[in-house]
Amino acid sequence: MIRYTDHVIAELRECIKLESYDKIFAITDENTFAFIYEFIGAIVPHEQVIMVSAGDQHKNLQTAEIIWGQLAKMRASRKSLVINIGGGMVTDLGGFCASTYMRGIDFINIPTTLLSMVDASVGGKTGVNFGHLKNYIGTFAEPIAVIIQPNILKALPQEELKNGWAEIIKHGIIAGGELWELVNKGMPKIADTAAWKHIIALNIELKSKVVKVDKKEAGLRKVLNLGHTVGHALETAFLKHNDYLGHGKAVAAGMVMESFIALEMGLLPEEDASSIESAIDAVFERLDLADYNMQALLADMKGDKKNHFGSINMALPRNIGAVQYDILVTDSVILNALALYGKNTHQPQA
Ligand SMILES: NC(=O)c1ccc[n+]([C@@H]2O[C@H](COP(=O)([O-])OP(=O)(O)OC[C@H]3O[C@@H](n4cnc5c(N)ncnc54)[C@H](O)[C@@H]3O)[C@@H](O)[C@H]2O)c1
Ligand SMILES: [Zn+2]
Repeated sequence: MIRYTDHVIAELRECIKLESYDKIFAITDENTFAFIYEFIGAIVPHEQVIMVSAGDQHKNLQTAEIIWGQLAKMRASRKSLVINIGGGMVTDLGGFCASTYMRGIDFINIPTTLLSMVDASVGGKTGVNFGHLKNYIGTFAEPIAVIIQPNILKALPQEELKNGWAEIIKHGIIAGGELWELVNKGMPKIADTAAWKHIIALNIELKSKVVKVDKKEAGLRKVLNLGHTVGHALETAFLKHNDYLGHGKAVAAGMVMESFIALEMGLLPEEDASSIESAIDAVFERLDLADYNMQALLADMKGDKKNHFGSINMALPRNIGAVQYDILVTDSVILNALALYGKNTHQPQA
């Protein structure tokens, strides 16, 4: 259940009033801890707020163990509730911990980044990274509610907004129509809460529609991997260099490279490829991959949990509004696209 509101506390009270939870816990990171009074007020006792270190490098089993430990120590039971307040890191990690603690207890997501509003907190995937392997350990588990307060984006750093915008561009390519038109108008002004709410709702609608048909990614859901085969390999490569690349930036670069791949394979008309490129280049600078070994990137793509037997399958755009999944792509086409990405640099508009 998705709820949009200007007052999280009121909405939260509404969500929990029909249930009889014995205890309510909240999970935040260092940055989203600041929201606890605004978001959960007196609903969660201070000692039942579990704060974890911020950053994707902490989305791992060690942090999960700390959370499970805290829940056990404070005697959380099957009738307890966990409220995740944060970006995708917190909603993935908190959802994972809640869905495994005592074989699964209820949780609510209160996403605080654009990326988690339009993507991570909906669709039922939870999980943690396992060493360098992104999201290798996880569950499919639905929150009982996702509460979205769009004006919280006002507090979000520009870089984080851009991370979410990449997923919005992805959804725009998949959906076409009104969402793609909005993508081409660029990011709304930060104070324009109504515009953000509208765009967030269109994104969630698209993602929910896809997930409803195919929750466990046996088919259609794979379209949501657009930009992610290359994007995840980039994230892995940056982690190996002890560097951090935001998920959205990785996906933005991934979508550019994957549209080059689709173009080269004759799957995507040139005008659609350049329209995708422009929408992305308007917001994202090209990554500098000079220090990265392209063969190693290719190996990381083969290691992606979505690929089998050393072949690389991708979801690729066929048109704006049509993405096809399970397309087998050869190494040489990928290497050409990676090379083209570095050469084909547009200036960001602002
Ligand atoms: N489950 C899914 O379907 C799914 C989909 C997409 C992404 N993800 C996951 O989501 C994660 C990325 O999520 P993210 O981009 O939200 O990152 P994040 O949760 O790490 O948040 C980014 C940074 O912003 C801070 N922050 C959060 N809200 C803030 C606010 N309102 N104001 C100021 N700072 C704030 C955080 O503390 C953090 O430092 C990745 O782990 C990715 O794998 C999951
Ligand atoms: Zn993503």
